[in-house]
Amino acid sequence: MEEFIRGLPKVELHLHVEGTLEPEMMFAIAARNGLELPFASVDEVRAAYRFTDLQSFLDIYYQGAAVLRTEQDFAELMLAYLRRVAGENVRHAEIFFDPQTHTARGVPFEVFMAGFERARAEAATLGISSLLIMCFLRHLPEDQALETLDEAEPFLDGITAVGLDSSELGNPPGRFERVFARARAGGLRAVAHAGEEGPPSYITGALDLLGAERIDHGVAAEQDDALVERLVREKVPLTMCPLSNLALRVVEDLREHNLKRLLDRGVRVTVNSDDPAYFGGYVTDNYLAIQQALDLDRADVVTLARNAIDATFLTADGKARLRDELASYAGSAVE
Ligand code: ADE
Ligand code: ZN
Repeated sequence: MEEFIRGLPKVELHLHVEGTLEPEMMFAIAARNGLELPFASVDEVRAAYRFTDLQSFLDIYYQGAAVLRTEQDFAELMLAYLRRVAGENVRHAEIFFDPQTHTARGVPFEVFMAGFERARAEAATLGISSLLIMCFLRHLPEDQALETLDEAEPFLDGITAVGLDSSELGNPPGRFERVFARARAGGLRAVAHAGEEGPPSYITGALDLLGAERIDHGVAAEQDDALVERLVREKVPLTMCPLSNLALRVVEDLREHNLKRLLDRGVRVTVNSDDPAYFGGYVTDNYLAIQQALDLDRADVVTLARNAIDATFLTADGKARLRDELASYAGSAVE
């Protein structure tokens, strides 16, 4: 099974590029930019990664992202992730970035977009395609999200969708209705984090008020049977992140995770890594961990991989190519 998962052609749909900043790279970039870190060593950084909830993680995550200043920094970050997962047989990734985290420090769109673009073009030659999803920070007011969307205007050719992330509780999706409506009117697709720490009503709100086409996390959906039935009926994908949920104590033990229960009820569940440098595993590690914890069989694993292909923002042709590759891999893999 482990070999099967490692070889599986995969797609990742829930990955924050700022969450791929490994401590070694954090130190190297800080030194290059003449910045002091509040940690003496890589080991000290890793020791600080003991989270109690989402906010305890976000505080450290935004601090880490503050080392990123130049086009080269963003290019190295993006390329390191894409290279690494290309080596794990990830064929396509739809990648979140948080522009407000950078523009607030005086780093403009020109800088990070140029870095991302350079890295994505180089990675494409390694057989991994990628799309970008621009997230709005929900702990900030909607007016700032609207300003961010204006600033993004010259770069929208390179951005496929908008998303919503950061501190969920107390920041319901309805606060971002205008900015999502404007983004969608401009041709962007929409996704939103919902039901990670927040209640099922935030998932309903993301669908009804924001026009979200995928729900990022969606763990809380299970608390509302009517919502689960709706997700099945409307084929709404959930981009679940098992090791993230464990690290942020959304679940206390992976064996309690509801991924398989939702899968068995017909929800379009997918497996992703969220912030792999902080949560101890990239997408393959997430597949391996949840397969073991929930005793998933090969058919479950193939369903998860196929759900992710179906949930991408690729064209029908792009999806068909990935489906064919998956079918031929799954059909030829020996028990
Ligand atoms: N930003 C980065 N990772 C996140 C997560 N898991 N939830 C909300 N915002 C995030
Ligand atoms: Zn996330």
